[in-house]
Amino acid sequence: TPAPAPAAPKLGFPAVAKNKNDLVTVPEGYQVSILHALGDPLHYGDESWKDDGSESADSYKRRIGDGHDGMYWFGLSEAGAYQADRSDRGLLCVNHEYVVAPYGLHPAGRAAGAARNAAEVEKEIYAHGVSVAEVKRDAGGTGMSMVRGSRFNRRITSATVMDFAGPARGAAMLATKFSGTATQTRGTNNNCANGYTPWGTYLTCEENYLNVISRAAGDEALRTAKENASLARYGLPPNRKSPYLWETAGSDDLFARWNSSVTGATAADDYRNTINTFGWVVEIDPFAPDSVPAKRTALGRFNHEGAWPAPAVAGKPVVIYQGDDSRNEYIYKFVSKALWDTADVGKGLTAGAKYLDEGTLYVARFNADGSGEWLELAYGKNGLDGTNAAYPFVDQADVLINARLAADKLGATKMDRPEWGAVNPLNGEVYMTLTNNSNRVALSATPSGSQLKPDAANPRYYEDLKGTTSQKGNPNGHIIRWREDAASVTKFAWDIYLFGAQSDAAADVNLSGLSDVNDFSSPDGLYFDKRGMLWVQTDDGAYTDVTNCMMLAAVPGKVGDGGAAAAAGGTATIKGASATADTVRRFLVGPKECEITGIAMTPDHKTLFFNVQHPGEDSAPDWAAKSYGSYWPASQTDTAAKKRPRSATVVVTRKDGGEIGV
Ligand code: FEO
Ligand code: CA
Ligand code: CA
Ligand code: CA
Repeated sequence: TPAPAPAAPKLGFPAVAKNKNDLVTVPEGYQVSILHALGDPLHYGDESWKDDGSESADSYKRRIGDGHDGMYWFGLSEAGAYQADRSDRGLLCVNHEYVVAPYGLHPAGRAAGAARNAAEVEKEIYAHGVSVAEVKRDAGGTGMSMVRGSRFNRRITSATVMDFAGPARGAAMLATKFSGTATQTRGTNNNCANGYTPWGTYLTCEENYLNVISRAAGDEALRTAKENASLARYGLPPNRKSPYLWETAGSDDLFARWNSSVTGATAADDYRNTINTFGWVVEIDPFAPDSVPAKRTALGRFNHEGAWPAPAVAGKPVVIYQGDDSRNEYIYKFVSKALWDTADVGKGLTAGAKYLDEGTLYVARFNADGSGEWLELAYGKNGLDGTNAAYPFVDQADVLINARLAADKLGATKMDRPEWGAVNPLNGEVYMTLTNNSNRVALSATPSGSQLKPDAANPRYYEDLKGTTSQKGNPNGHIIRWREDAASVTKFAWDIYLFGAQSDAAADVNLSGLSDVNDFSSPDGLYFDKRGMLWVQTDDGAYTDVTNCMMLAAVPGKVGDGGAAAAAGGTATIKGASATADTVRRFLVGPKECEITGIAMTPDHKTLFFNVQHPGEDSAPDWAAKSYGSYWPASQTDTAAKKRPRSATVVVTRKDGGEIGV
């Protein structure tokens, strides 16, 4: 007989009140410190951050990047290998999603003008990507510090050479002037959330790569109908200038490659395919600092938020859940062909090739009766072949590179912006945040363009009339969850775990009954610790008139707990759980104009890491007067500090050295 499942932990901290302070506020009995922030040097030989933007572009190959986002803790053994149960020494991998406003890494923000300054763009290219830093517990405590100069410390940037791996390696649609054989490319970009593997590697996911990719006017006339259909579906129409305009910084290949347009005779002569080289899951071996990261094409191409593994079971396939974070996009699942063998722990990218280069990609359909189906994205099945009128597929590489078009054909469910996922270690159920969607319209409305009416899995349309900001659609978001069918890889049962809302919203908006101690909007980051405590982080535009973004802790039940409620303005049945102070509680509030994102915990649960991204992003700076929308992280210890706001990783510990959250 199997052992009874361990009980869920109890929340054991006083709730933190909503606030708009320029500080990280944690519960009484807890303390915070800063692990690293934008521009901190990873090695000796580079000066410390000077707060004037004078650091060289080149030095960012060795400095902490900008826009801290997803991350993961890998325990490090004395021999320099992966040690999953180690808490006092590890490698912390952190995504650096993008260069955030007000662009404090430059001397006085981003220089104006139609053409970008080459030195600025070069610095931005190196400030994107991923950092790997060795981290060590402080002697006699549970706090952590970065080990400057560690041989494991590494930056991966938007210029780092990477391999293509899996079914799309070598595909013509991935060929560029850099690699005419489509076996390599440069850079990982706009890395939002993440994942990790049971063999001890980091997965980083490419989300808003359109930030840096442009396309020339008239380019459509030089393309096939299929290419134009693919570019349209992935959001790159002709005459589209990226917000960052990297391609305008000069003719050097470092800059020109961001123009995804036909300029040469063949795809091997230009960068028409740059867009297709992003949107992937990239595997990094943090224990091998010289290893070449691999873009794992079997997991599909879309605006990858993250890649969350189910707990690995020996003799069973490796399963990875993924979200495509754009309005009305899909949720995916990858199931490996190879079966998990614990002997592969520590085998790095060799194990990655075994488990992640061959397998089956599925996309989710959520039925109104609470059942769901995983639809297989395989060339030659389900009409994914040359007969598909919207986009005739030629092979599996074509299906993977154009996963969104394949998912369209199968009738997958268009979701309210899938952000992070997490798997409950106590019962295997999967949770995913649906952060918000301004493209939902009322059931009675006639949708236009990309608008959609509510459905069972995305059931809300309302107008948020609270506070100074008013938004329509699903402004506060929700968290969906599902339980896989024990007998079938393609079936699941789902319900809605929690609906975001302000506590003073009407009952048909505040469907989970949130109160002052746990109300939130726009769930984004999500993480189950090994005890089964769920952590929810927010990146909000609808509630920031009342409070800065936050992180909550929760002890959820299971699929089916929710009961039913009537849909706002509609007839669909909404399944959702209710929240009490005992089941959902606010753990921290961040500084001004930030998002709280990225979370990792040591295996002993005594050290928690989270990221503050883009503090002060909404306010125009006055560089000469040192006047900014936020002065964090300096403000954490000196409220009079007039220092530039910086994205950073924060360490949370209990003053008594105990476990976090309980
Ligand atoms: Fe980078 Fe979907 O948040
Ligand atoms: Ca996110
Ligand atoms: Ca509001
Ligand atoms: Ca944000």
